[in-house]
Amino acid sequence: MTNETNKTNGQTPVLTVNDLRVYYETPRGDVRAVDGINFTLNEGVILGLVGESGCGKSTAAMGILQLITPPGRIVSGEIVLDGTDVLKLTTEGLRQLRWSKLALIPQGAMNSLNPTMRISRQIEDVVREHETPQTRMNKDAMRTRILELLQWVGLPERVYNMFPHELSGGMKQRACIAMAIALNPSVIIADESTSALDVVVQRVVAQTMLKVKQQLGVSMIMIGHDMGLMAQMVDRIVVMYAGNIVEIATVNHMFKNPGHPYTQLLIDSVPSLKERKPLKITEGITHDPRNPPPGCIFQLRCPFVMDRCRAEKPLRQAIRPGQEVACHLYEAQPDGSYIDLREVSDVHDA
Ligand SMILES: Nc1ncnc2c1ncn2[C@@H]1O[C@H](COP(=O)(O)OP(=O)(O)OP(=O)(O)O)[C@@H](O)[C@H]1O
Ligand SMILES: [Mg+2]
Repeated sequence: MTNETNKTNGQTPVLTVNDLRVYYETPRGDVRAVDGINFTLNEGVILGLVGESGCGKSTAAMGILQLITPPGRIVSGEIVLDGTDVLKLTTEGLRQLRWSKLALIPQGAMNSLNPTMRISRQIEDVVREHETPQTRMNKDAMRTRILELLQWVGLPERVYNMFPHELSGGMKQRACIAMAIALNPSVIIADESTSALDVVVQRVVAQTMLKVKQQLGVSMIMIGHDMGLMAQMVDRIVVMYAGNIVEIATVNHMFKNPGHPYTQLLIDSVPSLKERKPLKITEGITHDPRNPPPGCIFQLRCPFVMDRCRAEKPLRQAIRPGQEVACHLYEAQPDGSYIDLREVSDVHDA
């Protein structure tokens, strides 16, 4: 398991997301896909972003890169990358920033590779698009660079001349990683990069990402469903539920003392070969995403719901170092500590 305390740097923010809201317009009202999320990605850290299908993970990623298109729109937010406010950039400023500072490997990227173009050409296009007359590489230098990138992600030289259909899923995914690192970005967002692969290949791709992070010093956001894989890959986990962040914690806290009842549910749903317990998550998001309930976003599914949860939205608070939870179950004490109301009384009044 990786641990943030091992890093030489893990405290300098590279990406800060403040109050990002992205809504999709529909005839029956706006779907609040991302509804006011805040988090910081520190240098040299891998942040995992998890939550059930439809909770807004991909929308958040697209919002951070300003890639939202109608019927979607960014309603509010501030995104600061290496001191630059991304939402204030011009179209040209944004074009320069993508790939070179912030690279996204979109969900399903390996299936969106151009089937008619060799892998080398697709990587070259990314590099050429950001060249200036001063930095323009000649053909030989470009070939050397592409081969170097392929080697970086563990692909053999022959991939240079191959077309996407000649590659396995894991190889395609690694080609996408090669494109993402081509311009040495500070941050890579990988959306479900390992999801469609079998478990063995998943590990290989995950290892490639870890190598990229460790040796190139890239910070990453890894979006995924697989809490087990996340546990081995990432430093911190951000848990989203219905467009909201309900918990941010180090991997250790997340698995040893999950704070939010929804996080507990996610962890309980990790299949265990030993216990062979059934998957608990069957319900999905139960409210209408156009009309979220007032108060806590998780109230309709929470086994510990209290009256306060129906009226007042819980703020995210640091219940202990390295763990922030948005839940009324945690009550601040005068000495700065928090008590878990479940431990002092039976709060179940539902
Ligand atoms: N074009 C659209 N129009 C209306 N609603 C949309 C549109 N695109 C996404 N949504 C809604 O936005 C919400 C968030 O979707 P998003 O794809 O970001 O979720 P996700 O967490 O990435 O899910 P998955 O794990 O399945 O990839 C969902 O409720 C989805 O139905
Ligand atoms: Mg998605």
